[in-house]
Amino acid sequence: MKKTLLILMTLGLFACDQQTNQTQSLQKQIDSLEKKLENTYKPGFGDFMGSIQAHHSKLWFAGLYENWDLADFEVHELMEAIEDIEKFHEGREETLLIGMIMPPLDSISKAIEQKNTALFNSSYTSLTNTCNQCHKAVDMEYIIVKTPDTPPFSNQDFQPLK
Ligand code: HEC
Repeated sequence: MKKTLLILMTLGLFACDQQTNQTQSLQKQIDSLEKKLENTYKPGFGDFMGSIQAHHSKLWFAGLYENWDLADFEVHELMEAIEDIEKFHEGREETLLIGMIMPPLDSISKAIEQKNTALFNSSYTSLTNTCNQCHKAVDMEYIIVKTPDTPPFSNQDFQPLK
């Protein structure tokens, strides 16, 4: 009887020990995953703005040449970048302001759908004004966006396929 009790107690201790080992090993895995997450590359707000700047410019030339398919593509690239800012920079003061860009983007989308050059031009001006309005709101009024004079890339043809 005494012997059985001793065996049972030893088994119990052994099981307990194994559990502690498992917990420790899980904690180690969590720590290592947390470290990996911390070191994952996350584009900065400025990186997204650089991409937005390029698509803003391309959008102008797509509209200028009435390349509506490309214009539609560029508007969606801009929308995606906005969504990414909202996702990757959630909670930042600047991110709370980014939504102001949606009404002019929606208006440009409508112009593209209607292939309406006049509406495209006025919506584009309103989009550019909104870029600057936000830069002012975040005390970066020295970042001044304007309608581009020349295409941003010489290795892309902005005219529609003939
Ligand atoms: C949240 C409001 C907001 C809106 C809307 C916005 N920006 Fe910005 N923009 C910023 C902030 C904040 C920065 C500074 C980012 C940083 O810290 O690097 C910035 C920086 C920039 C820069 C500077 C990048 C550089 O290195 O010179 C450019 C260019 C730019 N934005 C273009 C645009 C364009 C084009 C639009 C409109 C299509 C736009 N932005 C709309 C907030 C905004």
